[in-house]
Amino acid sequence: MTLLLSGCGLSALTGSENKAAAEIPAKGSVSGGNKMKIVVINSSPHSDDESTSKYLSARFTEGAKSAGHDVFVFDAAREETHPCSGCDRCGMDGPCVWNDAIENKLMPKMLEADLLVLATPLYYYGMSAQLKTIVDRFYSRTGKLHNKKSIIIATAYNSADWTMEALSAHYNTLVRYMEWQDVGQIWGIGCGSRSLVESSKFGDQAQKIGSNL
Ligand SMILES: Cc1cc2nc3c(=O)[nH]c(=O)nc-3n(C[C@H](O)[C@H](O)[C@H](O)COP(=O)(O)O)c2cc1C
Repeated sequence: MTLLLSGCGLSALTGSENKAAAEIPAKGSVSGGNKMKIVVINSSPHSDDESTSKYLSARFTEGAKSAGHDVFVFDAAREETHPCSGCDRCGMDGPCVWNDAIENKLMPKMLEADLLVLATPLYYYGMSAQLKTIVDRFYSRTGKLHNKKSIIIATAYNSADWTMEALSAHYNTLVRYMEWQDVGQIWGIGCGSRSLVESSKFGDQAQKIGSNL
């Protein structure tokens, strides 16, 4: 039995219904007790005080830092970014023709990171355009970004059990293609406002995943 962190409570699903449902890792099981380099990519256009996904990623960061890990946070909605132009001048092995914050600030941190955390509001049942912009720019270093660990944090207004299905399928496919190891998924349904997310269980779950890495 696997616990899926959804709704403002926990829903129990079998492994076959949700292949990589979030579980709180056993203490030290992800890092093996070593200090990890973690990159958190926020992608909400809301302010730090308003955003529900940034609230959860901040709780994760708090937990990870308390366990001694090094966390770099990139705000995709505030930095200068450009979508992949598909020119293929990188040959999927960098550098990118865009001389922007993705290339200069984020990519060097991602390349040396052990763990990437993707944080997004649910937008029309997928990730935000701000996050998709970053994901498409993986193209310039696809091979070099293989073999990372990953976590997804998503929040949504809707609380139906199918709310995160499409994003979950996309994330799991991305993990497979990038040859990542998924180590946590937080599907914050019913979290359409700051007060809702703060009164949900997801904050504690995010913090615990971070502190248990
Ligand atoms: C453009 C847009 C699209 C949205 N699409 C969805 C959606 O498909 N399903 C849903 O449940 N909520 C949707 N929402 C609500 C947000 O996912 C929700 O308010 C979330 O908590 C926002 O997170 P943030 O504060 O971190 O940006 C949408 C909001 C916006 C602005």
